[in-house]
Amino acid sequence: MLRLVSLFRMSVTLSGYESPSVPAPASAPVLAPVPVAAPVPGSWTTASIPDQTGRVALVTGANSGLGLETARALAASGATVVMACRSARKAEEARGALLRELARESRPAPHGALDVLPLDLADLASVRAAAATVAERYGALDLLINNAGVMAPPRTLTRDGFELQFGTNHLGHFALTLQTLPLLEARAGARVVFVTSGAQYFGRIAFDDLRGERSYDRWRAYSQSKLANVMTALELQERLLERGSAVLALAAHPGLARTNLQPASVAMNGSWLEARAYRLMDPLFQSAAMGALPQLFAATAPEAVPGGHYGPDQWGGMRGHPKAVPVAPAARDAERRQRLWAVSAELCGLSADLPPGPGNGHSS
Ligand SMILES: NC(=O)c1ccc[n+]([C@@H]2O[C@H](COP(=O)([O-])OP(=O)(O)OC[C@H]3O[C@@H](n4cnc5c(N)ncnc54)[C@H](OP(=O)(O)O)[C@@H]3O)[C@@H](O)[C@H]2O)c1
Repeated sequence: MLRLVSLFRMSVTLSGYESPSVPAPASAPVLAPVPVAAPVPGSWTTASIPDQTGRVALVTGANSGLGLETARALAASGATVVMACRSARKAEEARGALLRELARESRPAPHGALDVLPLDLADLASVRAAAATVAERYGALDLLINNAGVMAPPRTLTRDGFELQFGTNHLGHFALTLQTLPLLEARAGARVVFVTSGAQYFGRIAFDDLRGERSYDRWRAYSQSKLANVMTALELQERLLERGSAVLALAAHPGLARTNLQPASVAMNGSWLEARAYRLMDPLFQSAAMGALPQLFAATAPEAVPGGHYGPDQWGGMRGHPKAVPVAPAARDAERRQRLWAVSAELCGLSADLPPGPGNGHSS
C-alpha cells in the first residue's frame, strides 16, 4: 500500500505542471508582482542562441542529462563552458565526448573551450573552493546555470549534515550563487538560472524541520528543494533590482526529460515499482536536448525577463519548446521567500546581504 502511495506521489509530482487548480497555500498571501513576460516565439531552439563568444558559463552537473546538453549548446555558440561536476572521471569523459562531437559538426564559428571544475554541491567546503577557483581562473562569470540535482533518495545527509535534496539542490546552489555573484556583477548581461521542476507546485518549505528529522518523505523533500530553487531565483532578482544590479536571475523547468535523473533515483531508493513506472511512462518523456531548451532560453534569449520562469509549451508543460510559465503560488509569497533566504544564508554560514558588487559595493 505504501508503495502505491509513493508511486502515486511520484507520477503526480513528475507530471503536475502548470496545474491551474493548485491553490495557493492558505498561509501564502500572493504578494509579489509576477514579472510581465514578453511573448516567446513558438519554436525557440538552440539555433536561436545569440553568439556567446567571449562569455564564460558555469554549468553544474554538466556531465549528464540537461547539464550536458546545456554545456553542448553554449560551447557550440562560442562560450567557454566550465563543467562543474562532482566526479572528475565522469566530467573528463563527458568533456572528451563533447569535444569530439563539436569538432565533427561543421559550424561557421569555432566552438568555445570546455573546462572541468570539481564541485560537490553536497559539501559546502567544495562549493567555496569551486567559487574561489572560478575567481582565480576567469576573474569574471557571465552565466551561472544551477542545474545539478538529485531526486527522491532515501533520507541521506550531506557532508554538512543537511537533508541531501535540500542540501544539494538548494543550499549548494544558494552558496555557489552568493559566492560567485561578485564575478557575475563584473560582467554586463550576466545571468543566473535556477533549474526547478513541476514538483515546485507541490512543494512546501518545512521551516520547522528542514533536515527532515521529524518526518521524511522523499518526494515531499524533492518538491521542497525545487520550490526553494524558484523562490531563490525570485528573491535574488528582487535583491539585485533593489541595489541596481544588472544581473538577471531566472528559473526554468524541463518538463519530463529522459536523463539519468530517474535511473539514479531508482538506484538510490531501490523501488522496483518506480523503475517499472518510469518504463511505462517513457513515451511521455522528451529528449534531454529538448528538456534543456527552457534553461538555455532563460540563460541566453534576449526576450527573457528579470525573474522570468520558463518551461515547455505542450502537454501541460511536460514537453515542447520554451515559453513563460507561472511559478508555484507558494513561490510568490515574499515573506516566505525572505525567510528561506535568511535561513539558507545562516545554514551556509554566509551573510544574508548580497556580497559587495564591483566598485563601491554596487553595480549598474
Ligand atoms: N529529467 C527530468 O525530467 C527533470 C524534470 C524536472 C526537473 N529536473 C531537474 O533538472 C536538473 C538536471 O537533472 P537531469 O534530469 O539532467 O539529471 P541527471 O542526468 O541525473 O543529471 C544530474 C546532474 O547532477 C549532478 N549531481 C548530483 N549530485 C551532485 C552533487 N552533490 N554535486 C554536484 N553535482 C551533482 C549529477 O552528477 P553525477 O552524474 O555524478 O551523479 C549529474 O551531473 C535537476 O536539477 C533536476 O531536478 C529534471
